[in-house]
Amino acid sequence: MAISFFSHQWQSLQALFFILDYVLASYIRARPSYGDGADFWCLESSAPCSTYAAYFAQELDFLDLRNIANLFRTSLQEIARASNLVSEDTRLFPGQLLPVPITCGCTMNHYFANITYDIKLGDTYYTISTTVFESLTNFTAVEQMNPFLEPKNLHTGEEVVFPLFCKCPSKAESENGTEYFISYVWQPKDSIWSVSAMFNVSAPAIIDENKLNGYTDISSAVIPPLMIPVSDWSDVTRSEGFRPKIMQDKLLPGVSGYLGKPIMYDADVIMRATMNLNEHRRVVGSVYRATIDGKLLAIKKTKEDIAKELKISGRSSLSVAENP
Ligand SMILES: *[C@@H]1O[C@H](CO)[C@@H](O)[C@H](O)[C@H]1NC(C)=O
Ligand SMILES: *[C@@H]1O[C@H](CO)[C@@H](O)[C@H](O)[C@H]1NC(C)=O
Ligand SMILES: *[C@@H]1O[C@H](CO)[C@@H](O)[C@H](O)[C@H]1NC(C)=O
Ligand SMILES: *[C@@H]1O[C@H](CO)[C@@H](O)[C@H](O)[C@H]1NC(C)=O
Repeated sequence: MAISFFSHQWQSLQALFFILDYVLASYIRARPSYGDGADFWCLESSAPCSTYAAYFAQELDFLDLRNIANLFRTSLQEIARASNLVSEDTRLFPGQLLPVPITCGCTMNHYFANITYDIKLGDTYYTISTTVFESLTNFTAVEQMNPFLEPKNLHTGEEVVFPLFCKCPSKAESENGTEYFISYVWQPKDSIWSVSAMFNVSAPAIIDENKLNGYTDISSAVIPPLMIPVSDWSDVTRSEGFRPKIMQDKLLPGVSGYLGKPIMYDADVIMRATMNLNEHRRVVGSVYRATIDGKLLAIKKTKEDIAKELKISGRSSLSVAENP
């Protein structure tokens, strides 16, 4: 009798477990199939860190390194150095990706990089977040960060803090080799593989960090910027994403400064490749088109002895920008 009672009890217990299990499973399934992006949680006591936001150079104002530096309130030198640009006057190309140095800190238990922006006529939190800051922040985060401002009544010249999503490695993550998290906004043309190649960071590491498991179509999902875990900065600066670019086969007029590091060639190699700086090889100003070792290059004749500037001796005084 007793045995039968127990077994009855056991059955209902099983049923209960089954129901619980079922409810739990459907609860999990009812959640969107994607995660909520990286975990930005922090303690107010967490120390701030220096890190990077990946920013696409864009028309009209932000093809100029100086303007980008002003926007992010960083120095021209710092931004040029982070991007491996030799000249601070480098004209950028639309869509060129730059690692912009930012300081990431903890506000209200959420990692953010505070960027102060001066409101201009017609600006709204939404337009500035999505256009100028390329969705590295969102308007609700801006509202929360500026509780004393009236979003519908902004005045020209008013200072607004735009909190960019960012993240500092925890102690465990640092010990695991993560040096930085780069903030990167998913683009419609991206795939997890292209992003992995762009930063030279393994796809599983990006998927893990951003809880992208189960994502099939990230582009349709609303997620905060991806946090790209980087263990070796030099891998990133050499990676596909940050390699300085010249638009394919279209050398823009007004190419100034150097795109990336100049490569030095002996003068006679350059003279041969440009047919003694032949007029037919001239693109614009003192920029010539040349093919050396099968690579299409833009050659810029410099007035100063750039070799001296670069502390290289015995080479020509011509600098070369590579067209990848
Ligand atoms: C960011 O700005 C907000 C608003 O001005 C401020 O309360 C917060 O302390 C700042 N956070 C950091 C880490 O500086
Ligand atoms: C903006 O970011 C905050 C913080 O992660 C998030 O809670 C909120 O849903 C986001 N808002 C929009 C409109 O994406
Ligand atoms: C550290 O790395 C190991 C092995 O790669 C991994 O299993 C672990 O989850 C990592 N821990 C953190 C905190 O990232
Ligand atoms: C990073 O770059 C190195 C050298 O180019 C390459 O061998 C490696 O496969 C790359 N790693 C990833 C994850 O893309």
